[in-house]
Amino acid sequence: MGRVYNFSAGPAILPEEVLKEAQAELLDYKGSGMSIMESSHRGKEYDAIHTEAIANVTKLLNLSDDYAVLFLQGGASMQFAMIPMNLVQDGQVGDYTNSGAWASKAIKEAKIQGCCNVVADTSKETPARMPLPGEIKVSDNSAYLHITSNETIGGIQWKTFPEVSVPLVADMSSDILSRPMNVAQFGLIYAGAQKNLGPSGVTLVIMRKDLAERVKDTVPTMLRYSTHIDNNSLYNTPPCFSIYILALATRWLLAKGGLEAMEAQNRAKAAKIYDLIDSSDFFKGTAAPEFRSDMNVTFRLPTEELEAQFIAEAGKQSMKGLKGHRSVGGVRASIYNAFPPAGVDVLVDFMKDFAAKNG
Ligand SMILES: Cc1ncc(COP(=O)(O)O)c(C=O)c1O
Repeated sequence: MGRVYNFSAGPAILPEEVLKEAQAELLDYKGSGMSIMESSHRGKEYDAIHTEAIANVTKLLNLSDDYAVLFLQGGASMQFAMIPMNLVQDGQVGDYTNSGAWASKAIKEAKIQGCCNVVADTSKETPARMPLPGEIKVSDNSAYLHITSNETIGGIQWKTFPEVSVPLVADMSSDILSRPMNVAQFGLIYAGAQKNLGPSGVTLVIMRKDLAERVKDTVPTMLRYSTHIDNNSLYNTPPCFSIYILALATRWLLAKGGLEAMEAQNRAKAAKIYDLIDSSDFFKGTAAPEFRSDMNVTFRLPTEELEAQFIAEAGKQSMKGLKGHRSVGGVRASIYNAFPPAGVDVLVDFMKDFAAKNG
């Protein structure tokens, strides 16, 4: 089998150009006689990659000097714990919006730290939706407001971000670098790389440097943002190969026209599937229309048997990874930056055909 249309929610499809470049450089990175995987993280070859990865993210998001770009480990899940550990001072709380499965996991970790306040909760609503600005009231002793910019399982996305008086902290694991945004609105943004940035193993954190200045003495060295800011994410051995692919993927994004161009393409791709859902009696979207994600399109068929058949038949036609998350079932088409528009056309044609035969 050749390459398939990979609709997986993550690890997810990467740009073919990036994979080919990595393949070409795998055995002998730029005449060094070794793979970048085998190179010292203090050597000049890796240093250039590390520097480029930071520069690419800085350029794509137009970051000011107030922000640090960090490459950490432990996934977005580690950030769920690091954020309250580092940002909440004695007497403060972290405010959280609960918009679904991933926000709930962030909340669980903040509760372990004993400093969590849920200020809005839409996690049990159908159709799935994000909280509305009027539903959010931050605490008087709030250190930050945490949101999940895109709920990967629920298929919902914040379209405009809430404006609050405290730093906004966002889990952007499943929509980072998919659209332009004003980072100045945020205190901290984080994302596991394995959807829109590269392979798993590296977590991108973009944070206002001043927020890292006050941290409790009991926080371990590796779990302090200040450690990684002070050492340019080289306090210990970073996940060099994952950062290398991230550098290539962000270089690819810049060459494609940056975030404006990506947003236009992402919107157009998602709209094709949502338009079909809206014009059909057979498919039913699970997200409230005004919060529909451009990254993860979730929908149901009339029965679970038909869903299983749909996923199996799609698989035979080179469309893989369409099964909804095991906690909710249904169908989910994850169409991140690297997912080609032609693959969406193939899916839409397949959906029309399947509905005509089985509707
Ligand atoms: C929105 C969101 N947050 C967090 C995570 C967890 O990321 P990780 O596996 O990198 O810890 C995921 C993974 O799918 C996600 O989609």
